[in-house]
Amino acid sequence: MKMEFMKFYEVLNDFHSSDIIDSDVRRNGKMKSPESGNRRYHVFHNQVLRTLLLFAMVSLACLVLYHAVYPLQFSPVRFYSFSLPRVYAHANTSTNSGNEEDKLEGVLKRAAMSNKTVLITTLNEAWAEPNSVFDLFLESFRIGNQTLWLLKHLVVAALDQKAYARCLELHPNCYFLKTDGVDFSVEAHFMSPGYLKMMWRRIDFLRIVLDMGYNFIFTDTDIMWFRNPFPHFYLDTDFQIACDNFLGNPWDLNNAPNGGFNYVKSSSQTIQFYKFWYKSRQNYPRKHDQDVLNKIKYDPFISEIGLKIKFLDTAYFGGFCQPSKDLNFVCTMHSNCCVGLDNKVHDLKILLQDWTKYLDLPPKLKESKTLSWTVPQRCGSGHRRIARKKNDKTRNL
Ligand SMILES: *[C@@H]1O[C@H](CO)[C@@H](O)[C@H](O)[C@H]1NC(C)=O
Ligand SMILES: *[C@@H]1O[C@H](CO)[C@@H](O)[C@H](O)[C@H]1NC(C)=O
Ligand SMILES: *[C@@H]1O[C@H](CO)[C@@H](O)[C@H](O)[C@H]1NC(C)=O
Repeated sequence: MKMEFMKFYEVLNDFHSSDIIDSDVRRNGKMKSPESGNRRYHVFHNQVLRTLLLFAMVSLACLVLYHAVYPLQFSPVRFYSFSLPRVYAHANTSTNSGNEEDKLEGVLKRAAMSNKTVLITTLNEAWAEPNSVFDLFLESFRIGNQTLWLLKHLVVAALDQKAYARCLELHPNCYFLKTDGVDFSVEAHFMSPGYLKMMWRRIDFLRIVLDMGYNFIFTDTDIMWFRNPFPHFYLDTDFQIACDNFLGNPWDLNNAPNGGFNYVKSSSQTIQFYKFWYKSRQNYPRKHDQDVLNKIKYDPFISEIGLKIKFLDTAYFGGFCQPSKDLNFVCTMHSNCCVGLDNKVHDLKILLQDWTKYLDLPPKLKESKTLSWTVPQRCGSGHRRIARKKNDKTRNL
């Protein structure tokens, strides 16, 4: 049905363009006399009209049939917004009234790799400000080793209007992730009802992405990307997640997951799991998604549905809680275990400088010794206990 309409539309477009006539002229070597050209045009015109009429009839029949089969689902507005080229549906998100799911599908389609894999981050106003976390995040892809290509597969889900506007300035794939009943123009304080609602909205959102058949790497915006992570993912699970401190065994459920970075393949297991995770918020009121995951990771439900949770090694996926020690291996670095946005930005800037210096070293020096970071300084180790006690206060805000 949809296909019919697309074809119809394309045919319409084709016949309106002068391409057909032009190529015809070219094929015949030289321009025809005005009369014969005119006659040809009339014949051509009649054919167009006949074709259009035929298409209109077929389409009408389709519409009637569709209406008879799906009387409740049918909505002309939705139908048209889906059938017309994407440009119309996504040119200007602030003014179009298209259905949310269509908008999301459009952004995902545009951003996805050929195997339906995307990178996703969520962004709020404070982090989106110039010279703050979002700028550093984008910069890391540019200075990372062969990471630039990944940027075009990144979808930024903006949590408020200002973050959305800034995203549009800098990035092609922005999506406005609305949360009903939360006013984000007021800063959402850590663990306030608004903050929690936003965090949980994210889990529900990621479930929708999986439901649409997309695999994703979710990354917090305060994670710097230095190398392509794909070669370091496990092949024998659909759900893998970074952790604050890696205990050495990727299967060990005692590893504490960090919800800021995970790679999830769309499958019936992962979709069920995300539904279960989201639903579990009711059993743990006033806890955020990461704390709840840390509880439900032992739940028999997970092995019942056949999902295996695997933890990523901090040697590749490090953070200020437990830095990747060797710069020759690091893929991503997270400014977790860090209290306060200023401290975070301060240390992330140094992190990027460390990386640049490392890249400038001659190859022999790169290999000769184990090179490491000069950060955390204001984040991490010394501040760790406080950070952990306050549940890593700055995760996402
Ligand atoms: C969207 O449309 C409005 C009004 O037509 C315009 O002011 C705004 O700049 C547009 N935004 C984008 C991102 O094109
Ligand atoms: C960057 O990537 C290329 C290709 O994978 C590799 O040959 C090179 O050693 C890498 N450089 C660093 C600094 O990792
Ligand atoms: C998708 O494609 C990327 C880039 O080629 C690759 O690295 C990744 O492993 C693929 N993912 C899946 C699920 O096949």
